[in-house]
Amino acid sequence: MNQKVRDLLNDQINKEFYSAYLYLEFSNYYAEVGLDGFENWYRIQAQEERDHAMLFYQYLLNNDQKVTFEAIAKPDCDLVDNMAPLQKAFEHEKYVTSLINDIYAAAFEVRDFRTMEMLNWFVNEQGEEEKNASDMITKMELFGTDPKSLYMLNNELKSRVYSAPSLVL
Ligand code: FEO
Repeated sequence: MNQKVRDLLNDQINKEFYSAYLYLEFSNYYAEVGLDGFENWYRIQAQEERDHAMLFYQYLLNNDQKVTFEAIAKPDCDLVDNMAPLQKAFEHEKYVTSLINDIYAAAFEVRDFRTMEMLNWFVNEQGEEEKNASDMITKMELFGTDPKSLYMLNNELKSRVYSAPSLVL
């Protein structure tokens, strides 16, 4: 495997674990304010991010590449109100999309079609992740200021259940 592609894939393991840590922080914020549906939503989101990290890890192992684990940074957030995590999540997902695109571009440059094929799943996933994050902001804008509506939105988010990623390596 091309060294730059390998290094970017290796970095992405760390970035995905960081995403998990960030979303666990959001879950923790909502637990503290008593919005258990939002807590559930981000706890499951954190699980999905750990899955993403493991997929990159497994892909490198499958291709006989050495993996190096780096320190995971402290979540960078100042959660001032119930909207703040949602906005930060949307910004974060756009950033993650840019990272996936960078790996894709590096793989494309060296005609690493296998990596591009694997990354296609992540390209689609990022489309979903950005949409979900944006929808959460819209819902909070619509319903977040009315306690009854917020209660119902919170209940809706409580019903989210974890499902394993459809990509199997
Ligand atoms: Fe692993 Fe939310 O992207």
